[in-house]
Amino acid sequence: MSSNYEENITLPNGKTVKVYTGLFINNEFVDSIDRKRFETINPATGKVIISVVEASEKDVDIAVEAATKAFNEEWIHVNGQERGKLMNKLADLMERDIDELAALESLDNGKPYAVAKSVDLPLTIDVYRYFAGWCDKIHGKVIETQNDKFCYTRHEPIGVCGAIIPWNFPLLMQSWKLGPALACGNTVVLKTSELTPLTALKVAALFKEAGFPKGVVNILSGFGPTAGAAIAHHMKIDKVAFTGSTAVGRTILKASADSNLKKVTLELGGKSPNIIFADSDLDEAVKWSYHGIFFNHGQCCCAGSRVYVQDSIYDNFIEKFKAHAQSVKVGDPFHDDTYQGPQISQRQFDRIMSYIESGKEEGATLLLGGKQHGDEGFFICPTIFTDVNENMKIMQEEIFGPVVAIAKFKTVDEVIEKAHLTTYGLAAAVFTKDISRAIKISNSLRAGTVWVNCYNLFNANTPFGGYKESGIGRELGKYALELYTQVKTVQINLES
Ligand code: NAI
Ligand code: MG
Repeated sequence: MSSNYEENITLPNGKTVKVYTGLFINNEFVDSIDRKRFETINPATGKVIISVVEASEKDVDIAVEAATKAFNEEWIHVNGQERGKLMNKLADLMERDIDELAALESLDNGKPYAVAKSVDLPLTIDVYRYFAGWCDKIHGKVIETQNDKFCYTRHEPIGVCGAIIPWNFPLLMQSWKLGPALACGNTVVLKTSELTPLTALKVAALFKEAGFPKGVVNILSGFGPTAGAAIAHHMKIDKVAFTGSTAVGRTILKASADSNLKKVTLELGGKSPNIIFADSDLDEAVKWSYHGIFFNHGQCCCAGSRVYVQDSIYDNFIEKFKAHAQSVKVGDPFHDDTYQGPQISQRQFDRIMSYIESGKEEGATLLLGGKQHGDEGFFICPTIFTDVNENMKIMQEEIFGPVVAIAKFKTVDEVIEKAHLTTYGLAAAVFTKDISRAIKISNSLRAGTVWVNCYNLFNANTPFGGYKESGIGRELGKYALELYTQVKTVQINLES
């Protein structure tokens, strides 16, 4: 491993961590063909952390070549038990390095270190362990046809999989793609977000240390319209999995149609409704609903950004919700009690502020926030709009920031109709003590996940994905395996 692509940096907490900066191809950190680099920023300060090597289309070609060779010559011969052992070894190494990974995730992304360590890392490690367990349990069936015939199916890997991931949960998104892809016997070329390249490269080094053969996992830092588009259009990539904006998701699907009809899975945006009935436990509803929208600074695809509160408790809910917002700490991600850190970039900061302006212009009541927090980095105060109506932009469009739109409702029919007034269908939540109402509403909501009396619960074994324009396919759980295998039918004539 060349020392050109390893550097020590000092964290805000005074600790030193080793950072890798090269493209990870064939188990080595290497330069790009064009020798270009780009800088990644600490969103808490707006200052440069380090520069990393930038992949172009040519580097994507090289990585795909490596992944194709590894698939055909090596990985295909590694059986499920061996793949499972390698993945478990990777999970052990991530656990060993959990402090460093959490610190680097916090530095590059801005999420609180304590959250990265207690939420992102444990779930990421779980995901690798969960899919490690599947490696030797992926098999087809014998299908009875006629007495003189024998028919069976095989669940085979797809081949070389492309993955394009976003910046809001860099380590988790890496595991959601790599976990099932590797368990099913595929090789991968993964592009990280240009805003958060660092932790994936650290995990790349752990893949090598765990003993994965070269070329099985290739990780590129780079930009969407160049390296990302090259993956989406590549003739030798057999499947692409994307998480990010709906606009880019559409281009990925088009790229598949224009190239080799690679399989596509998409996990896109959301504008998830969160419905609070008068009979719910109000303090619990406030606590979970706050977490539902403000967790990860509102940068969650499943954020409960539209909160509908039944009229008889509306004022009471709002009062408590505001008090909760005033009690959480916004600030330095390396402070133990920080709940909310900075937004990821100046661009996202500006986008969110323009949504806040539109909410004010369209006549919603700005109850709290609406402005920058502090004077450095990309922090925005928790922002609460009340009396928001269905036609306002802040009720219609994904803001992806710490901004909630709250509205009143009277009846079940009315709130279900309102909940469905969106092109998205990723998640929803219902707060009520009436179990039959909870189940009836959960069943009727057109969303991939419905939370009842909670929000943001995720497990490695529970599927996640979108209805409507929130995506195609499911990640996590057994369902994810279907998207990384293809079924072959073998028909045998026993009489011949
Ligand atoms: P984005 O969709 O541009 O970025 C996500 C990933 O796609 C990154 O790796 C990026 O490099 C890549 N990408 C960008 N253009 C591409 C292209 N033409 N071909 C292939 N890959 C491409 O999202 P961005 O600009 O960072 O955020 C904009 C909005 O997208 C956010 O405000 C939010 O609404 C939504 N978003 C949703 C996410 C989710 O978890 N569903 C995650 C990130 C953003
Ligand atoms: Mg960064």
